[in-house]
Amino acid sequence: DTQYEFILTDKPADGVALITLNRPKALNALSSPLFKELNAALARFDEDDTVGAMVITGSERAFAAGADIKEMKDKTYADVYSNKFIENWGEIARLRKPVIAAVSGYALGGGCELALMCDIILASPTATFGQPEISIGVIPGGGGTQRLARVIGKSRTMELTLTGRNVSADEAAAWGMVSRVVPPEEGTVVEAAVKLAGTIASKSRIAVQAGKDAVNAAYEGTLAEGLVTERRIFHGLFATQDQKEGMAAFAEKRKPVWKHQ
Ligand code: CAA
Repeated sequence: DTQYEFILTDKPADGVALITLNRPKALNALSSPLFKELNAALARFDEDDTVGAMVITGSERAFAAGADIKEMKDKTYADVYSNKFIENWGEIARLRKPVIAAVSGYALGGGCELALMCDIILASPTATFGQPEISIGVIPGGGGTQRLARVIGKSRTMELTLTGRNVSADEAAAWGMVSRVVPPEEGTVVEAAVKLAGTIASKSRIAVQAGKDAVNAAYEGTLAEGLVTERRIFHGLFATQDQKEGMAAFAEKRKPVWKHQ
């Protein structure tokens, strides 16, 4: 894609958009210009009616090795505070459509946080996750301490945050950080992620958006609030054409034809 310098974009399958982080020499360090392009591409695909789900990946060696340390190293408190440094990273968590992270190699610091902002993480056997910020005199700033604590619990999050040690793909899977490790005989992690995105894209888009919103309510709020949110959204879907079509198709033993409304 000629409009981007630090990412590649593609539509590798029906309903699927793929964004490849493309600063291989810097192990996809997440510089501000890269993140700006990533947000722009995601926003574009989020609004594109031909896209039902998105995949973010990096290279085989690195999903992303963190925020760009060389860009950050001379910044002052006034610089980062007044410019809301990395606050725009949070835009990913506000997208309507599902985003899948396909992780090979290093997903460290901001790279791990980027994966955690996605809705689903698939890992290659080579994937390595970690929050090494403590070793460069800081702590995670892109949501790592918060999202990890919710996903893998306090003790493990403390250990990773305070020691900076990495975890393997298998350990991340055992901890529930990733959906699964894609075995080599199934192809690459990107192929598996594109296939998964294709399955999601084949469903009613409005129901998919509702499902994402409801699961996020579980992730972000209390159980009591989440149950109310889920039921409200579930009830709301009875106002959609796709609910009528999906249930009619089941009763008539045929495949549904989604209107996505
Ligand atoms: N920022 C900027 N450049 C980076 C980078 C980063 N986060 N990670 C790697 N690079 C660059 C290296 O500087 C090197 O560049 P040069 O060839 O110009 O020297 C190139 O990528 C290749 O890296 P290495 O030579 O270090 O490769 P390696 O295989 O020996 O080591 C690694 C790989 C263990 C991932 C190592 O690169 C590393 O430790 N990287 C930094 C990891 C890190 O601390 N990430 C956290 C960043 S802070 C953060 O993310 C804050 C936040 O929460 C928002």
